[in-house]
Amino acid sequence: MAATPETVKKLIGLGNTVAVETGAGTASGIPDAAYAEAGAEIAADPGAALAGAEIVLAVRAPEAAELARIPRGALLIGTLQADAAAAKAYAEAGIDACAMELLPRITRAQSMDVLSSQANLAGYRAVIEAAETFDRGFPMLMTAAGTIPAANVFIMGAGVAGLQAIATARRLGGRVSATDVRPAAKEEIKSLGASFVGYEDEESKSAQTAGGYAKQLSAEFYAKQAEVVAAHIAKQDIVVTTALVQGRKAPTLVTEAMVHSMKPGSVIVDIASDAGGNVALTKPGEAVTTANGVKVLGWSNWPGRIAGASSALYARNLLTFLTTFWDKEAKKPALKEDDEIVKGVALTRAGAVVHPSLASA
Ligand code: NAI
Repeated sequence: MAATPETVKKLIGLGNTVAVETGAGTASGIPDAAYAEAGAEIAADPGAALAGAEIVLAVRAPEAAELARIPRGALLIGTLQADAAAAKAYAEAGIDACAMELLPRITRAQSMDVLSSQANLAGYRAVIEAAETFDRGFPMLMTAAGTIPAANVFIMGAGVAGLQAIATARRLGGRVSATDVRPAAKEEIKSLGASFVGYEDEESKSAQTAGGYAKQLSAEFYAKQAEVVAAHIAKQDIVVTTALVQGRKAPTLVTEAMVHSMKPGSVIVDIASDAGGNVALTKPGEAVTTANGVKVLGWSNWPGRIAGASSALYARNLLTFLTTFWDKEAKKPALKEDDEIVKGVALTRAGAVVHPSLASA
């Protein structure tokens, strides 16, 4: 959900009226009555919720039928994942669209950072589901009947999701290792008490973009990296993959042969499945068991699997964005065109595509 009763109250406090589509909060554990109590009007359907809207808060991009109902001049805020065609459609509809996933990774923007808040929860949830699926347990269990060894847990990709996965797996008592290509990640992995496993060379010293993301690296580098991790994966009980390269399909880090090298009962959780997956055997949106008894969880929308928390944080991210750019006198948002955050997220303004990555397309 893009708003919770907590943020609805604050939106009303800013001078807005708020409409919420009936039943929209059910999956996040928020009944209509809780929104109504916070002061929202409950709309019977999406059309009624959008009628007269000047600001539309969304989780994802609206479908065509919804887009047609958003009034001209409205401000749309969500994780829009827009390509050039979608941006053009917003411009033609006269909607000022802000794509929150394009937020610059700067300190001032941290509290509005939807990718971070959702990745953090996805990392946590992935480990919890791995523990639930694994038939042995994470900690070393010493009992009168004998000892069960601790699970070996390997986290691939140590960005926001990966670091939370490391912390969660450590808390559960697993023996945790992790890998990443960005040089800065190595120290972060170690500071969380996990060991670093990986391949480093001259190329990986500059594997990070100015924005903090991993760069696409050469085929030679990926081959060397695969050699180093292959031997390690064969000894793992749990592998959690989180690796993304901005704007591209997720890199394949775990080959079919690596999956087959693992023991029966091992679990692989692929958080990158929505971006194509890091594991050759991932079926996006599904859980599969391989011929050698390895379970590969490739569910879509990992944050949605912990919906109460992801809604709470996402709604706060959007509220913070709005309040940061709120004109108290006019009681409406004033998105300063020259602000670094606004420049990062604004796709369209007053009928034109303005985002640098889409404007010339
Ligand atoms: P992401 O979701 O784009 O990717 C996840 C991780 O996968 C990254 O750490 C990336 O280096 C890694 N990866 C990519 N290819 C790989 C490969 N072949 N093998 C192993 N790992 C691979 O990254 P995320 O979580 O969005 O973080 C990106 C950066 O932004 C980080 O440096 C993070 O610390 C920084 N950040 C800064 C914030 C701020 O200052 N406001 C807020 C959030 C993140």
